[in-house]
Amino acid sequence: MTLKQNQPNAHSRILGLGAYRPDVIVTNDDICQWIESSDEWIQQRTGIRTRHRAGADVSVLDMSEHAAREALAAAGIEASQLGAVIVSTISFPYLTPSAAAALADRLGATPAPAFDISAACAGYCYGIAQADALVRSGAAQYVLVIGVEKLSDVIDNSERSISFLLGDGAGAAVIGPSDEPGIGPSVWGSDGSKWDAIRMTHPLTDIRAVEEGRPRADSPDLHDKETGQMREDATLWPTLRQDGQTVFRWASWEVAKRAQEAMDVAGVQPEDIAAFVPHQANMRIIDQMVKTLKLPDSVVVARDIADSGNTSAASVPLAAHRLLAEHPELSGKLALQIGFGAGLVYGAQVVVLP
Ligand SMILES: CC(C)(COP(=O)(O)OP(=O)(O)OC[C@H]1O[C@@H](n2cnc3c(N)ncnc32)[C@H](O)[C@@H]1OP(=O)(O)O)[C@@H](O)C(=O)NCCC(=O)NCCS
Repeated sequence: MTLKQNQPNAHSRILGLGAYRPDVIVTNDDICQWIESSDEWIQQRTGIRTRHRAGADVSVLDMSEHAAREALAAAGIEASQLGAVIVSTISFPYLTPSAAAALADRLGATPAPAFDISAACAGYCYGIAQADALVRSGAAQYVLVIGVEKLSDVIDNSERSISFLLGDGAGAAVIGPSDEPGIGPSVWGSDGSKWDAIRMTHPLTDIRAVEEGRPRADSPDLHDKETGQMREDATLWPTLRQDGQTVFRWASWEVAKRAQEAMDVAGVQPEDIAAFVPHQANMRIIDQMVKTLKLPDSVVVARDIADSGNTSAASVPLAAHRLLAEHPELSGKLALQIGFGAGLVYGAQVVVLP
């Protein structure tokens, strides 16, 4: 016998966006209390002036809920209509259960399937790829995609490879059926040969080993290789580190090619694009991508990084949300969006802005 299948939808599109930026603003001068650096150096090398960070009383779920409610209202969709809830994050402090299941409950989306995606700064674009496929296949009618981070929980302010770049926040999108194509084919992938380029200092199992007095696994950031003793400046709480130059080179050259591919598979030229929303990692990376892609001056480029820093999974939806607030005329126009980061992973697509 032949199995019945879901009724597919011809196309999908982003119906509405939402955003949440926490209240605490951390300036470069604040950063310089913790590391040897300067406001001038940080602005020149990264383009960052400030970043938002969440206080102890604001959680990943709180930020997600704020952004989600705005996106649902903008889309004109009730939470009960959601066919899936996807949360992209690397900073929800539970390995399990997922942030998505708790969020679905808070919003009133139960029993929608709910799951988290761990794709770091590509997480939101991975989520859009998933939502697009779910809607078009008919597996879901409406999908909520959240990119959210409380990176302030997983950094060590006293180190200077990555922490000074990072901020907190949440962005949300509701995806649903469409008569016209609203999300181009996703170009997404990974390169695990650079797994170490952005990483946590040590696995959680090392904390347990220390607590149980057992010899630890080889975690150079945690213990001295020669003596085997825990380093005096080390903390048990795992925090982020990166090899900035490796990531910088990969992002500026390799990732830009993937953005070009996203335009190619969508059948659009740079002149057709109204907005470019790259992951907000470094202003110099953004500038380099604009050059490599030969985007004309007419393309509005998201530069939210100056005020928000790098918010990983939240960065693309926060930047898109702000772009639409500042340029309402972009509504209905084409945007090229791309996320990239730890894994290493990348995800890109051309979308119609809601
Ligand atoms: C992190 C990053 C800003 C560092 O900038 P950079 O220009 O590559 O800096 P380098 O590592 O080459 O260091 C250059 C100099 O600046 C110094 N430096 C490094 N970090 C510094 C900081 N936070 N403040 C002040 N000086 C710093 C170095 O010590 C070095 O000094 P030296 O020449 O006297 O040895 C940059 O590599 C970057 O943005 N990489 C991509 C990161 C990224 O996007 N990550 C997330 C991806 S999702």
